[in-house]
Amino acid sequence: MSRQNFLITGALGCLGAWVVRKLVQDQINTTVFDLGTHKHRLELIMQPDELAQVRFIQGDLTQTATLLEAVEAAEATHIIHLAALQVPFCKADPPLGAAVNVVGTVNVFEAAKKMDLKQVVYASSVAVYGRKDEYVEPLMPHQARRRPHTLYGVYKQANEDTARVYWQDDGLASIGLRPYTIYGPGRDQGLTSTPTQAMLAAARGEAFHIPYGGKNGFQYVDDVAKIFIQAARTPFAGADVFNIKGDVVHVQDVIAAIEAAEPAMAGQITFDDQPLSFPDGAEDTALRQLLGEIPHTPLAAGVAQTIDCFKTALADNRLPKNN
Ligand SMILES: NC(=O)c1ccc[n+]([C@@H]2O[C@H](COP(=O)([O-])OP(=O)(O)OC[C@H]3O[C@@H](n4cnc5c(N)ncnc54)[C@H](O)[C@@H]3O)[C@@H](O)[C@H]2O)c1
Repeated sequence: MSRQNFLITGALGCLGAWVVRKLVQDQINTTVFDLGTHKHRLELIMQPDELAQVRFIQGDLTQTATLLEAVEAAEATHIIHLAALQVPFCKADPPLGAAVNVVGTVNVFEAAKKMDLKQVVYASSVAVYGRKDEYVEPLMPHQARRRPHTLYGVYKQANEDTARVYWQDDGLASIGLRPYTIYGPGRDQGLTSTPTQAMLAAARGEAFHIPYGGKNGFQYVDDVAKIFIQAARTPFAGADVFNIKGDVVHVQDVIAAIEAAEPAMAGQITFDDQPLSFPDGAEDTALRQLLGEIPHTPLAAGVAQTIDCFKTALADNRLPKNN
């Protein structure tokens, strides 16, 4: 395998932390590019000696030159672009959301083009689809019509089209991936972070209320991170976007998995029986055709591992004992 230097944007976030962890475990040169400085998600899942191997570049994705300098400094051969503002933050500040999510993504493609990289892997989202009642199929097929109904989804759709035009005009290939509800250690912000917050509450022995219900696609963060890395290493000619499926289950099933891992919590995790407006889940046949076998941690195991990780971190004082 020729030398690989990975640059991960937004790698102080939940998914990024797990991507970094896996790359470091594989002894790959890894550079984090993030606006933030708090390493709490990385510290939750990595040992200090592992973290010491990571290069950190603090910078703002919206600044074209800053990002290019970082890609140059990292001598990046691979880019995984994850930095973004999530649904509530885009809603609260749409111009900033557009700057980070849309302009920031253009900056990633520009930098990749200037550095002569062959391809980019980036995070899109199931939010590019419309409301579930706008479709016949319960699980979104790969090519289902996009009809985003949040600004976040609109910005993600713009990114998918940006990627398509960079392939058309410049031959810069890309693989976009559309997660749904990522759960696991480090998932502490965004619309669908409450199931993971319920797991943290269970680890603390506290009651918790999840403010929605219904079915959605639950995806263990370690699996999603590995899929992003797998995609970055898969030579691709084109610009396409792939759904991730995970376990399409009801919020009630997640609560049952929490109770199975922590029987003392029986009846203490509750939910509103109001589904999210997004589709129930998405088909991943196209992704499997592209990548072959992909990791899949069953829900019960993913939830149990998450609670275990939180308990260890609570015991080590790496997480506050109370909210
Ligand atoms: N978490 C999910 O369930 C989910 C679902 C679908 C899609 N996604 C997408 O996956 C990606 C990763 O999600 P996550 O849950 O890890 O997000 P996160 O919110 O935990 O992390 C995002 C990171 O981006 C960084 N960032 C924000 N603005 C920046 C800027 N201007 N310059 C540089 N860095 C900046 C933040 O500091 C943060 O570390 C995002 O693109 C998100 O939209 C996530």
